Amino acid sequence: MRTQVAIIGGGPSGLLLGQLLLKNGIDAIVLERQTREYVLGRIRAGVLEVGFVDLMQEAGVSDRMEREGFVHDGTQIALDNSLFRIDFTRLTGKPVVVYGQTEVTRDLYEARDAEGGKTVFQAQDVCIHDAKTDQPHLTYSKDGKTHRLDCDFIAGCDGFHGISRQTIPQDIRREYEKSYPFGWMGILSETPPASPELIYANSQRGFALCSMRNDNLSRYYVQCPLSDRVEDWPDGRFWEELKQRIPAQVAETLVTGPSIEKSIAPLRSFVSEPMRWGRLFLCGDAAHIVPPTGAKGLNTAASDVHYLYNALVQHYQEKDDDGLDRYSERALARIWKAERFSWWMTNLLHRFPEQSAFDLKIQRADLEYLRNSEAAQTALAENYVGLPY
Ligand code: APR
Ligand code: PHB
Repeated sequence: MRTQVAIIGGGPSGLLLGQLLLKNGIDAIVLERQTREYVLGRIRAGVLEVGFVDLMQEAGVSDRMEREGFVHDGTQIALDNSLFRIDFTRLTGKPVVVYGQTEVTRDLYEARDAEGGKTVFQAQDVCIHDAKTDQPHLTYSKDGKTHRLDCDFIAGCDGFHGISRQTIPQDIRREYEKSYPFGWMGILSETPPASPELIYANSQRGFALCSMRNDNLSRYYVQCPLSDRVEDWPDGRFWEELKQRIPAQVAETLVTGPSIEKSIAPLRSFVSEPMRWGRLFLCGDAAHIVPPTGAKGLNTAASDVHYLYNALVQHYQEKDDDGLDRYSERALARIWKAERFSWWMTNLLHRFPEQSAFDLKIQRADLEYLRNSEAAQTALAENYVGLPY
């Protein structure tokens, strides 16, 4: 088999890239290790920057998102028992859109099917060959047979645990990592959201987040120790803890119900440089991870896709490799800003086991500054709605 761009990974990065390439007449095949049902069963965040929404429009996959997504003009920050609001639209001219990553992925698969894009599911043992030459290829196994896929370029969109990043030799790769000493225990419940906007809560008992998917589907998180297991958090305990971490006025009207999904995620910041090695280009979680506090996971994947897809179009349509040559530098410049923002929001809102009385006072001062300063609110807002590509 031969294609122009071989995409490893059928998550949001690989699918969005594939769709944008298809729209521009560039042929791409997606190799996904799992089944489609497995990929669509993963629950992830759901806050989209305008830049992401624009890319979905450009890819021709925005109809349902425009119909069913919720435009949020601001967010609430809870400090002890009070709330204050960051007004994104007034401060930056831009809102965000709340629409689950699972739905984004579903829409991208449907568009791919409709336009005849080829996806190989359950592609095992994907291996990258000759990435440093002009004729790279992949091998993979499926149904007990080994297959070969020749291509011009390889997009490594295979997430944090994928093989693409590992293919870059260790003496070329530099990895920057920070682990946080806690996780997020998250639940999904078929209940109306606690408030029309997200609430990010700093409380003495630890961080909490009230988020949502739609009018009758809510997503909540509480910070928990890394050693906790899902079994430690029966629904009753979760709701009680959440109520204690959010302002009383919100807790009083909170509608609780059985959880339909429950999971614990550790928090990590991670960047691998460079994002290009020969004809291999890394995109999304394959190259970087952010803690979920700033809702940047999916959005950082989207900015990589933006730079890579434009670079590939420039290569094929204008025979100009400048975009490809500058891909890693451009993508990383934006990634590091999102890393900084996610790290800052994580520090602002969580309780750390080692936090001293001094650290707590500084955190408090940071929050008071945010509550009272339009400049501080604007800085949060412009990062949250997304820095320009
Ligand atoms: N071969 C083929 N596919 C693979 C391999 C492999 N060796 N390893 C992983 N994959 C697939 C996974 O099964 C997954 O479907 O690559 C896909 C990667 O998808 P994601 O992990 O969702 O990564 P990405 O598409 O970059 O999306 C980033 O997802 O994790 C969230 O917070 C993150 O929202 C962000 C978004
Ligand atoms: C979510 O809805 O799952 C969500 C929202 C905002 C975040 C993280 C997760 O910062």
